[in-house]
Amino acid sequence: MIFFKEFWLRAINILRSKFYDSGKFGRLFPFLPPFAQDTEKVRMALLEIGKKGAGAIMDQPANNLDNPNILAGFTFFGQFIDHDITFDPTSNLEQQNNPEAVENFRTPALELDHVYGGGPIVNPYLYDFKQGGIKFLVERVSLDGNSPNDIPRNSQNTALTNDPRNDENMIIGQLHLAFLKFHNAVVDFVKADGVTAPDQVFSEAQRLVRWHYQWIILNEYLPHIVGKPLVDNILEKGRKFYKWRNKPFIPVEFAVAAFRFGHSQVRPFYQVNDKFIAPIFDSSLDLANPDPNDLRGGKRAPRRFVQWGNFFNTGTGTPQQGKKIDTILSSPLFDLPFVSDPSSLAQRNLLRNLTFGLPSGQSVAKVMSIKPLDRSDLNDVAQLGFDRSTPLWFYILREAQVKADGRMLGPVGSRIVAEVLIGLLQGDKMSFLSQNPCWVPTLGKDGNFRMADLLKFAGVV
Ligand code: HEM
Repeated sequence: MIFFKEFWLRAINILRSKFYDSGKFGRLFPFLPPFAQDTEKVRMALLEIGKKGAGAIMDQPANNLDNPNILAGFTFFGQFIDHDITFDPTSNLEQQNNPEAVENFRTPALELDHVYGGGPIVNPYLYDFKQGGIKFLVERVSLDGNSPNDIPRNSQNTALTNDPRNDENMIIGQLHLAFLKFHNAVVDFVKADGVTAPDQVFSEAQRLVRWHYQWIILNEYLPHIVGKPLVDNILEKGRKFYKWRNKPFIPVEFAVAAFRFGHSQVRPFYQVNDKFIAPIFDSSLDLANPDPNDLRGGKRAPRRFVQWGNFFNTGTGTPQQGKKIDTILSSPLFDLPFVSDPSSLAQRNLLRNLTFGLPSGQSVAKVMSIKPLDRSDLNDVAQLGFDRSTPLWFYILREAQVKADGRMLGPVGSRIVAEVLIGLLQGDKMSFLSQNPCWVPTLGKDGNFRMADLLKFAGVV
């Protein structure tokens, strides 16, 4: 009887309205049915697709390929963007979730709320009050006053950030640090420009930091991920699918499927500096070790810093490439040290596609007037019943593999990612696109500004 009740609760369709609140999640395609009903059989099949180990569909260490089109740094820039706009720490993997009832703990705007928090008055622990409270607090990886910087931490090494995920691995942690230092350098720039009142210095620096970050998303990140022609097309002709009534919201097709494409870009190992190369995670290592031989976050030690020439074209090293975007994930992601039941990121993503009632990749392709993948492109999931109705996350990865050789997203994934990121900029009254669409970066050269320029301006290369 209990089983029957559970089964019934899982199988019902949840309400799908079109009127979303920007503090909650919503849907792009509320009229499309879920890719599958939530049954034990379907759950077992999804766990099979996302399992680790020999013979697994998504865990194939021998087939991890470099993406010649995208440098490794953009993986973590993507993760950083994700942490700026979407955070769902409450929905349940065990049951159906209604996006409209699930709170998004981030504002759906590309405004760096995971860095600034509510500002120096609301989140004073983020700021350096020896410097007037308008710069961020930064620390060092060791007591040596010449050692590289680290994000500030409390006595238990918990990062003092407005989003704990920005210390989930040490590369995203160091990217967070780069943004703290970028803001601090821009504060000096604004002061040198003659602004004196601390409040004005802070808000002008914050505006410049946000606009340069938004510029990079639009002019460097998105062209790599979805191609420049699509970005230009959406800017010129408008969005076809991502619409809102009052304010932008984050659609689950983006947060739970399309933008999780980045999990496939993660390499198993990274050379982070001249002396430190390690797996991104190794869950067999002792949790209490202050300096484990992996790149997990939450640790401070002299070797735990990033030389950005290993990640971006800074001219100071040989950057590593990101991994190709395909249905293979690096092995460490199948056994994350900081989550359990399941600890496989692939299984978690697939179960979320189910519990949020996401449509299939094929049905989204049809709505977009894009020819869906052939069934023969999905042979490996046919026996599990997913070659005609494929979970959107898996479909988008396979589409990138088949239609773009893993170098960028395919047409369905590109359209969702580009419409949402551009839409968030267009829907934010304070973004440069809304305030001054003709603006060009003031901190760059020749009217441009790239990640490498940001890192140089921040003084971290
Ligand atoms: C080492 C790198 C990364 C790790 C370990 C990681 C891990 C995770 C984990 C554990 C979750 C929650 C899974 C769940 O319970 O459903 C998650 C969610 C997510 N990840 Fe990643 N991730 C990484 C990189 C990325 C990248 C590069 C992107 C995008 C470019 C990305 C996009 C997302 C998105 C959109 C979510 C949903 C966030 C939310 O709404 O709460 N991640 N990731």
